[in-house]
Amino acid sequence: MCGITGFTGKSRALPFLLQGLEKLEYRGYDSAGVTLVGTEELKTWKEKGRLSVLEEKLDIAHCPQRCGIGHTRWATHGIPSNLNAHPHNNMDNTISIVHNGIIENYVELRADLEAKGFVFASETDTETVAHLLDFNYRETGNMRDAVYATIAGLEGSFALCIVSCYDPETIYVAKKENPMIVGKTGDAAFCASDATGLLSLTKDVLPLDDGQIAILKPGSIELTDFAGKALEQNWIHIPYDMEAAQKGGYDSFMMKEIHEQPDAVRETLRGRFDKNDRIRMDEIDALEISWERLRRVYFIACGTAYHACIYARTLFDRYADIDSFVMPASEFRYGTPKLDADTLCVFVSQSGETADTLAAVKLANEKGAATAAITNVLGSSISRTADVTLYTAAGPEIAVASTKAYTTQIVLLICLIMKLAEKTGFVIPDYAHLVADMKRLPQILTEILKLEDTVGQLADMLKEQRDAYFIGRQLDYPTALEGALKLKEVSYVHADAYYAGELKHGPIALIEKDTVVVAMATQPEVAAKTMSNIQETIARGARIILITDSTIPAERFEYVLRVPAVREELAGIAAVVLLQLFAYFTAKEKGCDIDKPRNLAKSVTVE
Ligand code: G6P
Repeated sequence: MCGITGFTGKSRALPFLLQGLEKLEYRGYDSAGVTLVGTEELKTWKEKGRLSVLEEKLDIAHCPQRCGIGHTRWATHGIPSNLNAHPHNNMDNTISIVHNGIIENYVELRADLEAKGFVFASETDTETVAHLLDFNYRETGNMRDAVYATIAGLEGSFALCIVSCYDPETIYVAKKENPMIVGKTGDAAFCASDATGLLSLTKDVLPLDDGQIAILKPGSIELTDFAGKALEQNWIHIPYDMEAAQKGGYDSFMMKEIHEQPDAVRETLRGRFDKNDRIRMDEIDALEISWERLRRVYFIACGTAYHACIYARTLFDRYADIDSFVMPASEFRYGTPKLDADTLCVFVSQSGETADTLAAVKLANEKGAATAAITNVLGSSISRTADVTLYTAAGPEIAVASTKAYTTQIVLLICLIMKLAEKTGFVIPDYAHLVADMKRLPQILTEILKLEDTVGQLADMLKEQRDAYFIGRQLDYPTALEGALKLKEVSYVHADAYYAGELKHGPIALIEKDTVVVAMATQPEVAAKTMSNIQETIARGARIILITDSTIPAERFEYVLRVPAVREELAGIAAVVLLQLFAYFTAKEKGCDIDKPRNLAKSVTVE
């Protein structure tokens, strides 16, 4: 969620630092700062609030320095304030750092440093590192040794960038459990916490692994482990450009991304069917697991990706006779999951960086389970930690509220289930029909997007409402959950989702005249049951928006939206698009900041 940029080269550093931070703004932040390096002293500016507030304080045209670091902070230790904002410096302003993550032993370190006479200016865990560097510089007499000695003393997670006037052209970058990417051109080297921050200068990047330090000098990068041993550099090419990350004609990234779903799904399915229309998944073929012994499958994720997991688990459980479980990563890692060599854990994460999900992957690895990740970001931490990774091809998702990542995750999860059927021998009925409908999904999504205006009119109903309820059974339930989450996230209307059959056990007490209930009934086997539950809410005065399939009779309802004819396993992929639009239009009617909802971050890299 915090953003980092760094630059050292033969041209001015500040323009790169600021534009890089702008590109990372979507991750969410509450303060911003930069340090520029001169030989005599460092200059640091930091301000609470938007990047534009910082820019107003900077005399941008008169900052000739060629080396510097920048940061956007999302508060964890210490409130959002100018003092707590990064960069943090040592007492005589000769060393400056920015940091993402949490220094877990900062209390002990701080007490120790204070006893030695160091005076702290902030409440942050990060500032400890600046003073520790200072201490180690005094001990060792050179910056390089001070950096290695300092990193060795840190516990917790960090992506760190360190500059100093002792080594004015060098940026030291260290990484443990927080993302950091470096790149270079002929006469510059730079870094950012997310590839979007680098794309203006290069598409060839080196994502750091845990336990690595990169030493950036103009035009060169040296890579070592924390002990200083030189390491091989594994560079990768980022296949999309900055333009893909622009809004392209829409008024928000969220709306653009909703409309990108036909393409995103098409790209995600590309190459997944062989010439016999069986699923191709070399990644799963490469997994070291004895398929005949497979006893259980866990689906694990956070937020929207967790809803995709509920969808997948519901489907898997319908077809497979293998035990399956779905858990939010934050519960999985602290619970008592049954993990062994006969367990497959599937982790889903758009960013590939969510701290809880990453920790859950590590736990499953430690316990000897097979781990497969589904993520959207090449080179992300989760992709590098799991045994194998399947990539959604959604392209960069900028809006905080996830849309195209969700639909592509479900599509890939269904492919995975089809592959698991082949590996373990369970049967998916009418497989060929399912394949044919999966191939039609981009077209189906294009059709559903044509209902945009109708959804826009319905959203009018919600703008004055305090609450909304989403209900559904079976595969409609995760769709209801995701619809409620989208509405909460972007429009701040309180929304809850329930299994339709659970309504009468409590939530129905909240239904009164004109309460909006969004009812999902796309699953023919349980649609009649859901209809009865809808009647129960109508009897209490609810206004119903019904989302159903092409066959279920619904003449009695005033507001009905139908998904095009498609296999029921796929109906939720189409239906959720209507709910995304519904949330978008409600937020727009209310004048909300659609792409950057309050209190939320795109990528949550702390627990
Ligand atoms: C944050 C985002 C959500 C996202 C969740 C998991 O809370 O705001 O949109 O679903 O993190 O993110 P991941 O990148 O792991 O899918």
